[in-house]
Amino acid sequence: MERLDKFLCACGIGTRSQVKDILKTGVVTVDGKPERDGSRKIDPDTQEITCNGAPLRCRGTVVVMLNKPAGYVTATEDKNDQTVMELLPKAYAHWDLKPVGRLDKATEGLLLFTNDGDLLHRLISPKKEVPKRYYARHQGTATPEDVVAFTQGLVLGDGTRCLPAHLEIAGPGESYITVCEGKYHQVRRMMASRNLPVTYLERQKEGDLTLGDLPRGECRELTEGEIAALQEMAK
Ligand code: URA
Repeated sequence: MERLDKFLCACGIGTRSQVKDILKTGVVTVDGKPERDGSRKIDPDTQEITCNGAPLRCRGTVVVMLNKPAGYVTATEDKNDQTVMELLPKAYAHWDLKPVGRLDKATEGLLLFTNDGDLLHRLISPKKEVPKRYYARHQGTATPEDVVAFTQGLVLGDGTRCLPAHLEIAGPGESYITVCEGKYHQVRRMMASRNLPVTYLERQKEGDLTLGDLPRGECRELTEGEIAALQEMAK
């Protein structure tokens, strides 16, 4: 048995004093009943504790996958635009999730969030070479010469050299691109450097994770197995 307030802090809900304030609002329940007393003794193994309707587990690492729609910026806050954080259910607020890398405002598709800073940095590190696969519609049609240029490491307009990447021609004006790094506007700039300006971009895969049947604008928590596979890939 442990104190409810201590358990809530350990779950990452907030500091001791924030937890005190949260408890006062009545959003925490123990076995279905609102509980405002932080000194109450609870057993997290046998009792269900929720905050804002979400069951609390003191799981170390949480990863959430979002199918990002166009029109949202990847930032925790922004003065002018809607952010991807607004697409996460309120019930996830206590996890203190941060986006893993970024997708441009106009880019759609797979975006991960985690509360695990170490995993986040390893996933975005080019050294770990976690592949990200994109579908692009673009002006012009890619050629076998473009495919070779991608494998050799493109040099962007400003002289930035990219790591070797993979371009697969999907059809006239359509390609799949796989990159292991996440430079600013990377895919758009890589395609522009080959005179194939992108008109639509969707991230479809990160590591072994795909969007599956997750609808646009929706998110889901990764299973413990999926998180373990992600940890292994970014090791
Ligand atoms: N590359 C881009 O150019 N934009 C994205 O959003 C992601 C990768």
